Amino acid sequence: MKKISILVGSLRRGSYARKIAENLAEYFPAGYEAKIVEIGGLPLYSFDYDDPEVTDMPLPEEYREFRETIKACCGVLFVTPENNRTIPACLKNAVDIGSKPNSDVAWKNKPAGIVSHSVGSMGGYSAQKNLRLALSYFDMPLPGQPEVFLGHSPKLLDENGKICAPDTVAFLRRYIENFVSLIEK
Ligand SMILES: Cc1cc2nc3c(=O)[nH]c(=O)nc-3n(C[C@H](O)[C@H](O)[C@H](O)COP(=O)(O)O)c2cc1C
Repeated sequence: MKKISILVGSLRRGSYARKIAENLAEYFPAGYEAKIVEIGGLPLYSFDYDDPEVTDMPLPEEYREFRETIKACCGVLFVTPENNRTIPACLKNAVDIGSKPNSDVAWKNKPAGIVSHSVGSMGGYSAQKNLRLALSYFDMPLPGQPEVFLGHSPKLLDENGKICAPDTVAFLRRYIENFVSLIEK
């Protein structure tokens, strides 16, 4: 089984991002196991944890586990809303945690997909662009066009949390196919 880590940029119980992520997990082909990796319990990042000169702040077990999970997967799919024109703090915290230590960066060369959403019409554009900027430091291959900005997210989902419009489902399935082709390369 090839593992895909899905990171959801929302801690909200009724998060649309989480529901979208659950739909996307089902679009991966046989031989892939796509799972949401929880980031809500990750302590807020401080470099003291990674600084060998700081001896009274041992690396949190949650960091070790998160970094190992990312390193063991063959691709990372980010599904995120936008907070104040950028990515939510929980997601930035996860990005920072995976970015250290410099000698062993969990994100390095890992293929990544990005799906952003918003309840309005902008589809989380700024969040996605900011996330791309942060990830650009790690040489993570990303699918090219089309990028995925999902607007009016509450209307995308039916009462069972399923993405209902067939053209949106087809569009998202194609995005996952592109992402998988990138991983296979
Ligand atoms: C602190 C905060 C800031 C927000 N800023 C933005 C924003 O900049 N752009 C936007 O489109 N929506 C913004 N929203 C609305 C969120 O996109 C909306 O609450 C969405 O449902 C959150 O995603 P979720 O359902 O996956 O939790 C903001 C919401 C919160 C709580």
